Parts: sequence; structure tokens; C-alpha cells
Amino acid sequence: MDIKLLSGALGAEVNGINLKDSSDKNFKKINDLLLEHKVIFFRNQNITTEEHKALARKFGPLENHVYVKGRENHPEIVRIIKDPNEKNQWGENWHSDVSYNEKPTKAVILKSLKIPPVGGDTVFSNMELAWETLDKNIKEKINDKKAVHSSLGAAFFVKDYKAMEGNGNINEYSNTHPIVRTHPETDKKILYVNWTYTKQIIGLDKLESDELLKKIFEHQARLDLTCRFKWTENAVAIWDNRSVLHYAIADFFPGRGLGYERVMDRIAIEGDRPH
Ligand code: SIN
Repeated sequence: MDIKLLSGALGAEVNGINLKDSSDKNFKKINDLLLEHKVIFFRNQNITTEEHKALARKFGPLENHVYVKGRENHPEIVRIIKDPNEKNQWGENWHSDVSYNEKPTKAVILKSLKIPPVGGDTVFSNMELAWETLDKNIKEKINDKKAVHSSLGAAFFVKDYKAMEGNGNINEYSNTHPIVRTHPETDKKILYVNWTYTKQIIGLDKLESDELLKKIFEHQARLDLTCRFKWTENAVAIWDNRSVLHYAIADFFPGRGLGYERVMDRIAIEGDRPH
């Protein structure tokens, strides 16, 4: 096995693991790597839909997205499509997947099917490191606080994704979570708010909450907390959605003379209630 770190903050590209093998032994290796690096990447993984699902099931029950329709006969797989004529794509801007759910996603396994010749990278940020490096005064203010997360943070964009179908449920989904959560497997503290879905800190007035969240969001986007993955077709990313934020860069749209298609298959695994 060969491991290449993607940055000093998080992320590793792994060579020498076959994702078709969903044995307990192979899964343990993958999960250990995931807990260590928070996001792991594998190239040239020609896995079938069934192998993709089998691998995901090793992490836990599969999750159906609340408002995006899954693939026909595979409701757990969201096909993320950016059409060549679209400017925006699903997942642009910093977020942790479905943090507005009562039990947000534990991990995601994303497989690339079609990748533009340039652009369309995904960036990840390490929220354990974000908590460790956060300003001491801000830490004291938010340590025992909760915040409201709302799906409306993305619904604004979702109606523009003509290539992707909703399932008719684009209502507001909203939940309250601790701003600092504890990772259920490593016991590490994690800064658990995000630019897309977190709307208000409970117990602070709106202005104070907005000012504090702005500072925290800026901190989470610090480049020294991030890594960036350049996709090739048939690559797979697995991220620990509890301890990273991610951002799918939509920099390949027609207005730039770069109207390319990008297609990914995404399977999410059910998480637990943050505490
Ligand atoms: C997502 O935000 O779940 C999608 C990430 C990507 O397409 O790179």
C-alpha cells in the first residue's frame, strides 16, 4: 500500500487497495485510513453500482437524500450532474452534507464518472484542526452553544440545477446541533458549523450571531486547513462527513468558454445525532 498525503492538514491518496473487496479485513484498513486522514482518494477503481453499495454498507445503513431524487432502482445513489450548459453545480460552497438533518451523514463515498478536462476539483477542510486553531475568545463564546442548521441554505441553489431532479420534498428541514461536537470514534472535538446550512447561534441575538459565524466561516476556509483533489474518471473519494467540510469548485461553465459536463455517483451513510 502506498499513501501520498495531499496536504499537511488532511487527505491522502491511497494506492494498492482494491475497493471491489468489501471483506472485513479490507474495510478495517479503509476505515483506519479514513479516521487518520479524514478524506481518502483512490484512482482507477472500476467498481460497479453493486460494489459501490456493498462498500458503503460496511460503514453502516445507506441514507436516502431528503430532497434529491436517487437513481432509478437505486434510491440511495444520487447522480450529481453538472450539465455542460449549467454554471452552478451541486455542492459548491463550504458545507457538511445534510447538517440540517437530525442525524447528519456519517460518511460519503463519491465516484467520478465524467470529469471535465480542466476544473471541477473538490476541496476539503479539517474541522478538528479548525477547532484546535480557533481564536481562544471565540472558543470560549461558543464552546457550550448550539446552532440552527437549515436546508434552505442550499434550496436557493438547488432550483437552478436543471440536470438534477428533486423528489418533490424541497421544504425546510431544520435541526439544532452543538457547535462543538465530539467524534464518536476518535473522541476528538470538531467545529461543527458550516457556511451553507448554519443560520444562527442559539442564545445570541441575530447580529452577534452573524458576526461570530462570519469569523468562524472565514477561519474554516483558511487554506492551511485544506486539501484539494483533482479528479480523474473512475476515482473514488471517501470522506468523514463529521469532521470535514467540503466545497465542489464550479469553475468550468460556458461563460468562461468551459462548458463541460461533470457526473458523479454519491452514496451517503447514515450518521448519529451530534453530541
Ligand atoms: C457534494 O457536495 O456532495 C459533491 C462534491 C463533489 O461533487 O465534488
